[in-house]
Amino acid sequence: MELLDVIRGRRSINQFQSDPVPDSVLEEMLQAAVWVPNHHLSEPWHFMVIRGQSLRQMADFRKAAVLVKNREKPQAERIAEKARDDLLKAPCAVVAVQTIDENPYRAEEDYASTAMAVYNMTLVANSHQVGTYWHTGPLVYFEPFREWLGLDPLQRIVAYLRVGYPRLIPQGRRTDGLELTRWLD
Ligand SMILES: Cc1cc2nc3c(=O)[nH]c(=O)nc-3n(C[C@H](O)[C@H](O)[C@H](O)COP(=O)(O)O)c2cc1C
Repeated sequence: MELLDVIRGRRSINQFQSDPVPDSVLEEMLQAAVWVPNHHLSEPWHFMVIRGQSLRQMADFRKAAVLVKNREKPQAERIAEKARDDLLKAPCAVVAVQTIDENPYRAEEDYASTAMAVYNMTLVANSHQVGTYWHTGPLVYFEPFREWLGLDPLQRIVAYLRVGYPRLIPQGRRTDGLELTRWLD
């Protein structure tokens, strides 16, 4: 696949097939993740691949986190169950964690780099026709989940990706980059 096709063709995938993602694809994603620019070569990240029983456990944490967030709503239980079930639609999740530098400027730069690392993973996945969905939301701040992952307070979950073969690829939509650009010669 041409690079621009990989970039433009990447979509956030919400409907997955149940087939497992080969380890070779996940390994390529993780190895590509670290080749993003990162200031001072801080390499501020680490990753976790979550599948099987661990994914079911993560889905239960997601349900609990969403339940807490929506506790005032009468339909809270239904919203939370959907959040759990949605996570289980894909066979795999990859969590990306940033170690937070005590210098806030460095921490901000490291966040940018870790986000790029996640993006690299989405592109490599797409080059293998594997879909991803980038998530943040209540689960990333949910202390029982963070504890389960063994994170300390200076480690931030930047994103978790659901990863799997797409069942449906939605249409993409963007404003042309040239419409958003001034050229100052
Ligand atoms: C930093 C970041 C956080 C995101 N968080 C969520 C999220 O919590 N829930 C969600 O439905 N989508 C989330 N998304 C996915 C975006 O909604 C999605 O990328 C956007 O709709 C564009 O669709 P596309 O990726 O197919 O072009 C997130 C994306 C990014 C980059």
